Amino acid sequence: MKVYLDNSATSWPKPPAVLDAMSTYINEYGASPGRSGHGFAVRAAREVFETRELIASLFNVESSERVIFSANATHAINIALKGLLKKGDHVIITHMEHNSVRRPLKYLKSIGLIDVTIADCCEKGYVDIDKLTSCFRENTKLVVTIHGSNVSGAVMPIDRIGQICKAKGVLYMVDAAQTAGFIPIDMQNDSIDILVFTGHKKLYGPPGIGGLCIRNGIHIDTLIHGGTGSRSELDVHPDFYPDRLEAGTPNTLGILGLKAGIQYIIAKGIDSIRERLGQQTAFLINALKGIDEITLYGPGTSENRLPLVSMNVKKISPSQLALTLDSEYGIMTRAGLHCSPLAHQTLSTLPQGTVRFSLGCFTTDKEIDYTINALKRIITS
Ligand SMILES: Cc1ncc(COP(=O)(O)O)c(C=O)c1O
Repeated sequence: MKVYLDNSATSWPKPPAVLDAMSTYINEYGASPGRSGHGFAVRAAREVFETRELIASLFNVESSERVIFSANATHAINIALKGLLKKGDHVIITHMEHNSVRRPLKYLKSIGLIDVTIADCCEKGYVDIDKLTSCFRENTKLVVTIHGSNVSGAVMPIDRIGQICKAKGVLYMVDAAQTAGFIPIDMQNDSIDILVFTGHKKLYGPPGIGGLCIRNGIHIDTLIHGGTGSRSELDVHPDFYPDRLEAGTPNTLGILGLKAGIQYIIAKGIDSIRERLGQQTAFLINALKGIDEITLYGPGTSENRLPLVSMNVKKISPSQLALTLDSEYGIMTRAGLHCSPLAHQTLSTLPQGTVRFSLGCFTTDKEIDYTINALKRIITS
């Protein structure tokens, strides 16, 4: 039996409609959108436009031209941070951030551009709102927080943080790599200025596509200059959105796969996917809770959390456990630091990290039972 429980890294399998949309594009009209005026190019451009509109409606973005496509969440985060921050700016992040946020900020700090303060989180991974509030300074320009932790599963109160930032006149950016498509996000109601998403996790698109959504009125300088298919007579990059932040031939294949992925979760019902995955996660946690050798990390079953379980087994290293699960039982998990050493510091799981079981909308109850039994057998062997 093969059991894929690494959906926080990337979701698998993908809905069949994702592959259909991608192969239809390649086989029937694989032209570059926004470049030429022929029928194939116009059809591709229309599909890309419809995807922007779909994403704008999914996250309640004011204008669909402010939905920017990128290669992944990391690329989107770099576009936003490097295009927004100026000398002397101060940024607040939390102790649960992914390296995709931490490393570009560390780099900008190392070249003397900005200063960064890291707000503490509790041992489950929730940010301490009072501590976050005490981090603000006169020159704070931006707060960046993860929405859902890829390590502990804790989901941050982004609406509360958004209100605090709004009241202080500070921009708020949310890294929704783990939550977009799983937890409803409303940019306007949640007072989010910049929302970063990735296409290949809970939006069920292919790898290689992600993006950012930007509130009207916020200007982000162009990171990559080049061809856009628009204003070709100019020797400077166009300043209007989305072209301002999209240079070079887009990943139309990825965009159309993403569109099909989003249509799939909408048709299935984002709330019902979340409810079912919540039940499966709770079942897994409750089964593991009773086993003495197992240490579970992160929030309890009744808290706002993601469908992942981070754990360790006494006397077995995370890498050894993941290897045994894979080689002897066909169960695929992720072991180690999950690109987020700050989060592991919060959970006290440095230096070895954890084994993470992450569920997706194709995970079955039978697979969960099989995983629980495999863990019991490994522990008693
Ligand atoms: C919270 C978080 N942020 C950012 C990323 C980076 O996403 P991507 O691989 O699409 O760049 C990930 C990926 O695991 C993540 O979990």
